[in-house]
Amino acid sequence: MTSDTAFNDRMLSLGLARVAEQAALACADLIGRGDEKAADQAAVNAMREQLNILAIKGVVVIGEGERDEAPMLFIGEEVGTGDGPGVDIALDPLEGTTLTAKAMPNALTVIAMAPRGTLLHAPDTYMDKLAIGPGYPENVVSLAMSPRERVEALAAARGCRPSEITVCVLERPRHQEMIDELRSTGAAVFLIPDGDVAGVIHCAEADRTGIDMYMGTGGAPEGVLAASALKCMGGQMWGRLVFRNEDERARAAKAGITDFDRIYSRDEMVTSDVIFAATGVTDGSILSGVKRRPGYVETETLLMRSRTGSVRRMIYRSKRD
Ligand code: FBP
Repeated sequence: MTSDTAFNDRMLSLGLARVAEQAALACADLIGRGDEKAADQAAVNAMREQLNILAIKGVVVIGEGERDEAPMLFIGEEVGTGDGPGVDIALDPLEGTTLTAKAMPNALTVIAMAPRGTLLHAPDTYMDKLAIGPGYPENVVSLAMSPRERVEALAAARGCRPSEITVCVLERPRHQEMIDELRSTGAAVFLIPDGDVAGVIHCAEADRTGIDMYMGTGGAPEGVLAASALKCMGGQMWGRLVFRNEDERARAAKAGITDFDRIYSRDEMVTSDVIFAATGVTDGSILSGVKRRPGYVETETLLMRSRTGSVRRMIYRSKRD
């Protein structure tokens, strides 16, 4: 039996939801405490502990960093009991460390799992990203287009004016020119302070979020996680690695990247079926954050499988003293 046929996404999915839930619960006490590192560490510890009780032969391909930088959940770390299918794991135990430390919206715990060898081993560099939701013709927009051309092409495909398009962008000085160009088309720009996995997910639920397109540079690891989510929800995404120096190129080479200019489509970043789970840490537009009430805690988790396109929103409640 190959590891692919043994990848029982249905059976594994609930375990993955638990991993995301426990990571969110672990860092909840650190929301708004101004300590990004402590919040991240709490999520990392919990995620690792939960992963290690799953019946998988897992390898972290998107993790906390290189082995010499991250003692836990580093790239290449083997996780799980070692008894089940061989799987690739992409994770961000706390996507939005600053959001958590400042009690700002949309901090999530995020994890994706797929058969071994099917998730892009994205290095810890930036990635230029472009994403839209489901229902558009293939390649209606592209990374080769200017921001203006993307807005105009998407508006034409939707049968609306450019001024009816909303684009989500990370608020960074490096994006100012792009933001100005987008606004000059009449489009609205929805700026987020951090958290571009959630940024991309917004596009898949445009009716709910009002966001049609995501663009800009952010972390490459987050790009693979976002591609995993879109593969489950529907939608198109492209990413191209961006290198700021030779060290980053060396990281990419070490991760097995040979073509440094390649544009990866969603399905080239995630080449097989994938399961995706994310739990809200702080309240946000995708998920509610952890609620601590007298006697209990509650989380909300998004659990999705690309094979069936199933999207579950799960409320978990647990007693607490
Ligand atoms: P962290 O949770 O690791 O702080 O990442 C948050 C984030 O906003 C990501 O969502 C995004 O991809 C990346 O940082 C952007 O990087 P930068 O802050 O360097 O622009």
